[in-house]
Amino acid sequence: MWFIWLTRRYSKKSGSSHRWIQRQRTDLYTRDAKHYDYKSRAAFKLLQIDEKFKIFSQKRISNVLDLGAAPGAWSQVALERCRKGSNILGVDLLVYQPPNGSSSMQANILSKKTHESIKEHFKVVEMEKLKQKFQPIEVISNQSAFEIQAKSVIDSESELSRLEKTEQDHTLENVYYDELYRPVDVILSDMYVPFPQIGGFANQTTNMPYIRMANTSGLSFRDHAMSMDLCDAALITSIDLLKKGGNSVFKFFTGKDDKFLEERLTHVFRQVFRFKPKACRPESKECYFVCLDKVDNFVDKKEVFRAA
Ligand SMILES: C[S@@+](CC[C@H](N)C(=O)[O-])C[C@H]1O[C@@H](n2cnc3c(N)ncnc32)[C@H](O)[C@@H]1O
Repeated sequence: MWFIWLTRRYSKKSGSSHRWIQRQRTDLYTRDAKHYDYKSRAAFKLLQIDEKFKIFSQKRISNVLDLGAAPGAWSQVALERCRKGSNILGVDLLVYQPPNGSSSMQANILSKKTHESIKEHFKVVEMEKLKQKFQPIEVISNQSAFEIQAKSVIDSESELSRLEKTEQDHTLENVYYDELYRPVDVILSDMYVPFPQIGGFANQTTNMPYIRMANTSGLSFRDHAMSMDLCDAALITSIDLLKKGGNSVFKFFTGKDDKFLEERLTHVFRQVFRFKPKACRPESKECYFVCLDKVDNFVDKKEVFRAA
């Protein structure tokens, strides 16, 4: 009996879900998203941010971190804007299907373990890239065929491993034991309200995550306070993982504490702008900090958080 009650309770659309569906039907950006095959209308917010601030314009962008990535529209835009072979990692509390060519991780950014896993992911990606760069075949090709023939098999084998080792000493190990190494070029944070699920599997989950999860409450103070926490977590990833000169975008809900966040951001980036893309709903308190040009690889977290 209780099971039927639960199923009915959660399968019935609430007033706000109903309003959301109605609004989606008439929304131009939602229609355009379908037309251009974007996973959600959120794609247009990032496109408008990039149009104004050129966040993907650095010459050799290869690693992008997309926080709050589900259902994946921002990762789609990043894939379009970055060169082929770039590594785009999406992180979200929800399970979602990452767009082709990107990766995803289901995790909570408020957990320290997630920060470790993200670091580990980019470490593996960079190691792979370097390994490909120093494939043995390239080392052999530096030597003339005559030289190779002249050596015994054992000699050439040991020569090869010596060369490989020397190359690697100068790259992999040095790079990864260097505390100052930062692998990511752009960090995007669009974390907050998960899109309401219109149907499907929610009722078959054990713990009904869609119902439990952080959702815009309509109480502007609560939305603001929660968005400040998520922005701080994204700021910590920017301090720990973003390269000198890298760019970040942070979604937040306006309120009394956003000036302190802005102050913290100015310690990490040379330029910080508040921007509300046209694709945001005018009645919403949603806004973005677009931060350009990280001051250095190493930024002292304590200084940043002591400042404001
Ligand atoms: C507005 S949606 C993002 C839309 C996405 N940028 C896109 O283009 O498709 C916000 C996402 O933030 C995620 N989120 C909220 N809190 C989070 C947290 N603590 N850690 C990771 N993701 C979180 C939600 O699950 C939700 O999917």
